[in-house]
Amino acid sequence: MAAPRGQWSGKLGFILAAAGSAVGLGNLWKFPYITYENHGGAFVLVYLCAVALVGIPIMIAEIILGRRSQLSPVGAFGKLAKGLPGGKAWQGLGFLGVSAGFVILSYYSIVAGWTLRYTWMALSGSLGRIATQPGALDAFFGNYVADGGAQILGNGLFMLLTVGGVYFGVKAGIERVARILMPLLVMILLALAVYATTTAGFPRAVAFLFRPNFSELTNHSILEAVGHAFFTLSLGMGAILTYGSYMGKTESIPMAGLAIAIIDTIIAILACIVMFSIIFTFDMGVSKSAGILFTTIPAVFYQLAGGSWIAASFYVLVAFAALTSTISLLEVVSSYAIDELGWSRHQATLTMGLAIFVFGILNALSLGANATLSGVAPLGKTHAGVFNTLDYLASNWMLPVGGLFIAIFTGWVMSARDTWDEIRRGSEGSRTLYDVWRVLIRFTAPIAVGAIIFSIIFLGMEYQ
Ligand code: PFF
Repeated sequence: MAAPRGQWSGKLGFILAAAGSAVGLGNLWKFPYITYENHGGAFVLVYLCAVALVGIPIMIAEIILGRRSQLSPVGAFGKLAKGLPGGKAWQGLGFLGVSAGFVILSYYSIVAGWTLRYTWMALSGSLGRIATQPGALDAFFGNYVADGGAQILGNGLFMLLTVGGVYFGVKAGIERVARILMPLLVMILLALAVYATTTAGFPRAVAFLFRPNFSELTNHSILEAVGHAFFTLSLGMGAILTYGSYMGKTESIPMAGLAIAIIDTIIAILACIVMFSIIFTFDMGVSKSAGILFTTIPAVFYQLAGGSWIAASFYVLVAFAALTSTISLLEVVSSYAIDELGWSRHQATLTMGLAIFVFGILNALSLGANATLSGVAPLGKTHAGVFNTLDYLASNWMLPVGGLFIAIFTGWVMSARDTWDEIRRGSEGSRTLYDVWRVLIRFTAPIAVGAIIFSIIFLGMEYQ
C-alpha cells in the first residue's frame, strides 16, 4: 500500500519551500552577473515586467496543475489530460520536466559544491591568504575546477545534503530544511545589505540598478530577462507543480504565487545591492560567468574590514540558497518514482540521488579534468564540455519549451471551469483577477515564451 500523500503543514510551509526552490544560484550568481552585462536599470525593469507578466501567471498555472491532480508532473498531465485534446501525449511534458530536473541537478550541485569549499576556506583562513595576492584567486579557481577528484567530492557532499532533505519527506524533510534555512538566509542577506549601505559604492549601486537608461536596452536583454524569469522562479519543469501537489485545498493559489515571486525578486535585488556596492567601492571590473561569485567577490570581500567573516557568511548564504533549490530538483525526480513506479520515498530518493550523482561525474570531469569531456561540443563551440552543453540545453530549451506547453495546456486545453474551480478554492479572489490571469496565460505568456524559442532557433540568440 502506498503511503498517504505528504502535505505541507500550512500556508507558510508551501510558500517557504517553494521560495526555497526559487531562491538559489540564479538569484545570487546569475542575476547579478547578467544585470551587470545588460547595464542595470532598464534591464532590471524589463525583468520585473517579465516576472509579473510571464513568471507569475505560469507559476499560478503550475500550482493549479499540481494541486488539482495531487500528482507529480508525469501523473499530473496523464490525469488532467484524460479525455482532452492530445490526451496521453501530454505526459511527454511531464517526462520533459523529470529529465530537466535530472539534468539541471547533475550540474547545479557541482556549483553548489564550490560554495561548501569556499565556506570552508573562508573559515580556515586559506581564502583570505589567496584573495589578497593579485592573480592568485583566478589561478586557484582554474586549478580547482580542473581537479576532477575535488569536483566529484564537492558534488558528492552536496548531493548527500540534498538526499538528506528529500529522504525525510514533505513535512519532516523539505519543509523543515526550508523553515530553518530561509529565515537564516534572509537574515544573513539583510545583515550584508545593511553593511553595504555603509560602503562608498552604495549610491552608485542603487543608481545602477534603479535608474533606467532605455538606450542601453537590446532585444537580447529582453530575451535574457524573460529567460531568467523562468530559471529563477523554478518554472517550466514541474518543480512548483510538484510542490503544489502537496498544498492544502484551503489555501489561496494566487496569493502563494505572488508571495513566492516577490520573495524571489527581493532577494535577487538585495544580492545585487550587496555585490555592486562592494564592487563599485573598489571600482573592480566584473569577470564573466562563474568568476563573479568565486573570483571577483572574494577579492573585494578581503579589502573590507572583517573580510573573512563577510566571506564566510556570504558563502554559507549561497550554500543555503542552493540547497533548498537542489532539494526541489531531486523531489521532482524522486516523486516521479514514488507516484508512477510505486517506489517508497526512501528507495526513490536514494536511488535517484545516486543516479544523478553518478551521471554528474561526467559534468565534474568536464571542467578541465578530462580533455574529451571538457571538449565535446555537440551543440556548438560556445558550449564546449558536458557541463556547458547540459546547462545550455536545460536553460534554453527544456525550461522554455516546458513553460510554453504548460501555458498552452492550462490556458487552452483545460477548461476555464476547471481552472476557475481550482483557483477559487482557498482564495476569496475575485473573478476579475482570474480573468486577468486567464488572458495572461492564454496570450501574453505563450507569445513571450514563443518569441524566446523563435529567437533561439532563428536568430541564434540564447539565454545564458
Ligand atoms: N530557481 C533556482 C535558482 O534560481 O537558482 C534554479 C532552479 C531550481 C530551477 C529548481 C528549476 C528548478 F526546478
